[in-house]
Amino acid sequence: MKNCLTIAVSKGRVFDECVPMLARANIVPDIYPDSTRKLVLNTNHAKIKLMIIRSQDVPTFVEHGAADCGIVGKDILMERQSDNLYEPLDLGIARCRMVVASRSSWRETNKRLKVATKYVNVARRFYAARGVQTEVIKLYGSMELAPAAGLADCIVDLVDTGDTLAANGLVERETIADISTRLVVNKAAMKMKHAPVIELIENLGRLARDNKNEA
Ligand code: PRP
Repeated sequence: MKNCLTIAVSKGRVFDECVPMLARANIVPDIYPDSTRKLVLNTNHAKIKLMIIRSQDVPTFVEHGAADCGIVGKDILMERQSDNLYEPLDLGIARCRMVVASRSSWRETNKRLKVATKYVNVARRFYAARGVQTEVIKLYGSMELAPAAGLADCIVDLVDTGDTLAANGLVERETIADISTRLVVNKAAMKMKHAPVIELIENLGRLARDNKNEA
């Protein structure tokens, strides 16, 4: 895809929220992921293609130049902590928070804190900065189960409406970071495909400013 600009987009909520934004930037996929098994989608621009990828894999594709740009949550970038890509734009969509949550009855003790999360690097950094000894337990989903099941004292996870925490008897203890969707760019593509990459950054940047004003 040497002459194309390829944009890797996270599956799921980020994709759902970024499709309308891309459409406002006049980039429209020819088919939607729900109705196809195709992982590379053509768009109304002959030279722009979208790759539909699991969120954790978006930075990998962009770092290695398998995609020129990526659209991915800040949570994934915080966990990855890569110096190998540019992050020129906060798109201001799919906003949520990364928080620490536990059962309302939970009280701090002298025992080593057990933290269940899929964001193990973020959790380790967060507690290390406070000098708190932790055992971080890696999970791949349904983190909210861990405290009630006795697997962990607390979780580090994303919260949007707070419904999932409430439904599982958990309360927010602290916010670690505000999260939103970011545009990332491969470093070589920024040089070699400068004009189309800058055009994309400027177009999405205008819309991101609108999103910010509406928030
Ligand atoms: C995310 C997150 C929480 C939930 C929070 O999960 O991990 O479980 O959304 O949303 P709420 O505050 O509006 O209830 P998601 O559904 O994205 O799936 P995941 O477990 O695969 O991350």
